[in-house]
Amino acid sequence: MTEFNDIPFNRPSLEGNELAYLRAAVESGHISAGGPFGHKASELLIRETHAADLLLTTSCTSALEMSALLLDLRPGDTVIVPSFTYVTSALAFVRAGARIVFADIEPLTLGLDPLHVAELMDESVRAVVAVHYAGIGCDLEGLRAVLAEWDGVVLIEDNAHGLFGTYRGSPLGSFGRFATLSFHETKNISCGEGGALVLNDPADVERAHVIYNKGTNRRSFMLGEVDKYSWVDTGSSFGMSDLLAAYLLGQLEQWEKIVAMRQAVFDRYLELLMPHQDDLEYRLPIVPSDRNPAYHMFYALLENQQKRDHILRGLRDEGIHATFHYVPLHSSSAGLRFQAKRSECPVTDNISGRLLRLPFFNDLPLQDIERTAEVFLKEVQQ
Ligand SMILES: Cc1ncc(COP(=O)(O)O)c(C=O)c1O
Repeated sequence: MTEFNDIPFNRPSLEGNELAYLRAAVESGHISAGGPFGHKASELLIRETHAADLLLTTSCTSALEMSALLLDLRPGDTVIVPSFTYVTSALAFVRAGARIVFADIEPLTLGLDPLHVAELMDESVRAVVAVHYAGIGCDLEGLRAVLAEWDGVVLIEDNAHGLFGTYRGSPLGSFGRFATLSFHETKNISCGEGGALVLNDPADVERAHVIYNKGTNRRSFMLGEVDKYSWVDTGSSFGMSDLLAAYLLGQLEQWEKIVAMRQAVFDRYLELLMPHQDDLEYRLPIVPSDRNPAYHMFYALLENQQKRDHILRGLRDEGIHATFHYVPLHSSSAGLRFQAKRSECPVTDNISGRLLRLPFFNDLPLQDIERTAEVFLKEVQQ
């Protein structure tokens, strides 16, 4: 329960025409998937991410499931996934029949470690999933160098955190054959629950639409290419309702404002906490100079888990809803069950216990950032 004076971890906010567009969607008479707002939102995203095509989905999880179906996985196939990520970065591929090989992260960006990926590669690997943790690009150059040695292995960017971030001037989400986006309540751009599959290879577009349209060639029918549509392949009901797409478009149109607001929150936390990080032995996010972050979150890495848990309790006692993040997947009960082989992920184990996320949302008031930083600093010293 959040009390009146509490500082929540996240709070949704209206930034543009969300409510007017919701009303207009109802009045247009088209509120299922594939409506006019969905088209506009997709067009905007295609323009900004340089994609060949893009499909709005019910979640990032369902976009990951679509990418798994597009891989046509066979028994014995494996997918390399970071252990430090959300469950469905791995689960989506397990549901399509793959086994998972868990890779560690590197300590700088907390993204997939290319050196560990190189060690884990073998003939069974069909895809590698990279996450841009906190919206900061992972070592894409390192991953490309590893994948260049393995013909046909697909790079998939789980870009749930990184929409509108860049790596060496190119948008995050434009590097993999597929990328997935999340518009869940906690994400920078939100419609409550939602996502998108970004297609960067034009060769995937036609089949992706079939999978998206419940295994039918409905798109060919809509384009007038066939006189009726029928069941032609695997698929499911992945499409985002135009009600949600209307809300989403209202947010997307304001993306530059939203990124700027989040950058202001990030920068204020940095100003307040950076001067003490060496003395008080914690570490704040590092943004390599060749990347622009999407400003998805602000975290601190504490000396050890005991210290992290102590600070979390202290903040919560003051009504400040800070939180931890991913619990390692490689040692989870389902991770052990669905892994192809055992792997050690010591950086993941270490980071997971030390990471603390501070309240972070578009219009987090300055005085709340300052109160959070003050209580954080008081608790670190106890
Ligand atoms: C890296 C990552 N991938 C996927 C997801 C799942 O997103 P969704 O809730 O849109 O399915 C999350 C959720 O937070 C995430 O952090």
